[in-house]
Amino acid sequence: MGRYISTLHSQLSTLKIVCAFSLFCAILLAMEQMDLSKAVRPLLDWYRNNARDLPWRRTRDPYRIWVSEIMLQQTRVAAVLGYYARFLETFPTVEALAAAPEDRLMKLWEGLGYYSRARNLQRAARLVAERGGFPDTRAGLLELPGVGDYTASAIASAAFGRREAAVDGNVLRVYARLTDCHDDVSDPGVKKAVRARVQEMFPEEEADIRIFNQALMELGATVCGPNGPPRCLLCPVRDFCLGQARCTAETLPVKKPKKARRVEEKTVFLLLRNGETALRKRPGTGLLAGLWEFPNVEGSLDESAAGKILAAWGLEPKVWRSRLAARHIFTHVEWHMTGYVLEVSGEGPPEFLWTGSLESRAVPSAFARYSAEAARLLGGTP
Ligand code: ADE
Repeated sequence: MGRYISTLHSQLSTLKIVCAFSLFCAILLAMEQMDLSKAVRPLLDWYRNNARDLPWRRTRDPYRIWVSEIMLQQTRVAAVLGYYARFLETFPTVEALAAAPEDRLMKLWEGLGYYSRARNLQRAARLVAERGGFPDTRAGLLELPGVGDYTASAIASAAFGRREAAVDGNVLRVYARLTDCHDDVSDPGVKKAVRARVQEMFPEEEADIRIFNQALMELGATVCGPNGPPRCLLCPVRDFCLGQARCTAETLPVKKPKKARRVEEKTVFLLLRNGETALRKRPGTGLLAGLWEFPNVEGSLDESAAGKILAAWGLEPKVWRSRLAARHIFTHVEWHMTGYVLEVSGEGPPEFLWTGSLESRAVPSAFARYSAEAARLLGGTP
């Protein structure tokens, strides 16, 4: 019993020493927490040796950087790469984009989502082409449609060497962990404060200025990531990281929970007539504005109710081929779709466009299941 107590005693003493030492380290770090500038050099060195080789990082051309930043809004790098190459091949200059036919532009964007980005891109391209060049300041860039705080700073720094902090979700996460900040980063006031702090960290030399935002972002994308624990062993700034010292990194950043998405039921019609299918244009405003879609109505209809819709459209069902259900998740809404694939006769309403191919019209990926089936039935590519 005596031996047991003395072992316990010595284990407790060791634990106390470890705790005291950890606390001491945390206090030392806390004293230094204002001095984030120490992290800058290791971060830049790491970026130069480890960054992914991405096409928009090989250029200073504002047009190419701007297109990449717009595509990367809400979209992952891997999803953007193919679109980026095709886009620049088709529209190699801002003038070419300004003059592009809308259907061509939308077809190139098909599948990337958030289509208002493409429309704003063209509106901005027209402004830039008119004034004979890109604005070279954050304030000037902010005047372009589709360019917000983050994008303006990202372009201003990478293309024009301006000291402007670009704070996106990656940077907020890195900052919150690095400084053990428990504020809600979805609060615009907190974001503004983070921007001010990152701005203070900005290096002075032009070559560093051009990559500093990219380096923070890259750290957030590849090491200090959003899913799963941060990979602190690979982190160039772990020695300066309060989140790592205090074991809080994995719980950060703090964000208020998102509102649940609204679910909308729909019935989609893949109508076949003489080797053609019917499309119609969506309204000019709102979700997927102005894009092509398969005719659809609100609600999940059974065959008999669907038959009534066909009759109202002046169509007569000939062969009910199959049912095709699909789901699509947008940011704030989820579509749960019931689909009918059927052969019909009749004209349909004037807004229906009967086509033997989907190749030149942008049908958003919310309808991907129906596009693929239409392509299979019509014998082409979606
Ligand atoms: N996400 C937003 N901008 C980015 C960039 N320039 N490189 C990689 N990911 C990004």
